Amino acid sequence: MSDEVIAGYSAAAPGLIARYDAISVEEMFAPVADLLPSAPSRIADIGAGTGRDAAWLASLGHSVTAVEPVAALREAGQTLHPDPGICWVDSRLPDLAALAGDEAGFDLVQLIGVWQHLDDGQRDSAIRRLADLIAPGGRLILSYRHGPASPGRPVHAGTVEHTIDGAAANALTLLRRRAADSVQAVNRAAGVHWTWLVFERV
Ligand SMILES: C[S@@+](CC[C@H](N)C(=O)[O-])C[C@H]1O[C@@H](n2cnc3c(N)ncnc32)[C@H](O)[C@@H]1O
Repeated sequence: MSDEVIAGYSAAAPGLIARYDAISVEEMFAPVADLLPSAPSRIADIGAGTGRDAAWLASLGHSVTAVEPVAALREAGQTLHPDPGICWVDSRLPDLAALAGDEAGFDLVQLIGVWQHLDDGQRDSAIRRLADLIAPGGRLILSYRHGPASPGRPVHAGTVEHTIDGAAANALTLLRRRAADSVQAVNRAAGVHWTWLVFERV
């Protein structure tokens, strides 16, 4: 993922914060809701944006590490969702260097609307890193955007199969693959659609 993407989100942040935070988590997570943890769990939300999902998950009793490299989004999230169950971290894929060894062992790692910004080489590195962060039996949920990029925030199309193959090579077994429309009207109108993937760490 490039500095251009980070710069694009930084520049667009003033117009994105209210829009991202207003998305209905129940509607968005519908394709995978039954695969979310029911017992209190350790969750990492990578590319957490404004912390909308982190706050929802924390309200359900989970302990959430919200990783967000764009300062304007991270700071907005800390203001909008001052929940002690959320720990904010400034780091980015594919290395996630700020998540040290003692941060490993998440029950769930999620990437919502992030994967499309990586090229295939970065996806290969990232899936290895993500697999290392997940405890045996833990899950990885990612939503993979298809369709045109938003201005200033480039995307790399790739194939879903490439991600599934990379996950399999890193002890991540596919539990679900489901297509979904965008929940944002502006993106639906632009031809954006999604594939939701859920993997379980062997
Ligand atoms: C489409 S937004 C989705 C935000 C949030 N997950 C949501 O659903 O509202 C993509 C997010 O990925 C973040 N991001 C960009 N580059 C990243 C990177 N290299 N590593 C992790 N997150 C990144 C952006 O800053 C932004 O918050």
